[in-house]
Amino acid sequence: VHHLLEENSIANKFVAQLRDSNIQKDRLRFRKNIERIGEILGYELSKSLVYNPKNVKTPLGEAKLDLPRDEIVVCSILRAGLPLHNGLLNYFDDAENSFISAYRHHPNNDEEFQILVEYLASPSLEGKILLLADPMLATGSSFVNVLGALEPMGKPKEIHLVSVIGASEGIEYVDREFPDNSHLWIATIDEKLNDKGYIVPGLGDAGDLCFG
Ligand code: PRP
Repeated sequence: VHHLLEENSIANKFVAQLRDSNIQKDRLRFRKNIERIGEILGYELSKSLVYNPKNVKTPLGEAKLDLPRDEIVVCSILRAGLPLHNGLLNYFDDAENSFISAYRHHPNNDEEFQILVEYLASPSLEGKILLLADPMLATGSSFVNVLGALEPMGKPKEIHLVSVIGASEGIEYVDREFPDNSHLWIATIDEKLNDKGYIVPGLGDAGDLCFG
């Protein structure tokens, strides 16, 4: 299941700045816009969580309110996932955290590539809500390979993929490969991938634009 942000919202301005080849040269702004979208997507996905009633003592009495029931783990795919991770963590501030690497390795220095996962630091995911962050979903192979690499950490109760920009083809692939208890929260979708597996018109290489 995927959830695209509503057509008209302030998120459009952040996406426009991310795509704009003049504005995106400002790395601080580029990272900040990804972080801001992480906050918005985090808020959207928070509406789908399960809540339990809690009592909170105020200076004048007691207030009843509903708070998220389940433990949350925010996992980001290095490198470009980091600013999205920060945005999610701004809202899910007491979540546990995982980091995993995935990069496109070109064994023959041509267009053919495989995704390599070389680094993983993660708590157990068993029975928890996993928020998996990567701002770009092009072919979808990074998300799918990372899902396999996370398997030894246990079975999450639900998986929420969080991304900024996706290609329809990659989204369909992820939909097929991820278990039924998965949701994708995404800001914008492009129709095309070029023959190098880049999103068109897309925004370029988010990892490089964030970190050089
Ligand atoms: C880019 C991007 C995603 C991935 C998306 O990562 O940041 O992680 O490609 O492509 P896919 O859906 O086809 O797998 P890259 O390998 O450039 O690493 P980086 O984030 O460190 O730049």
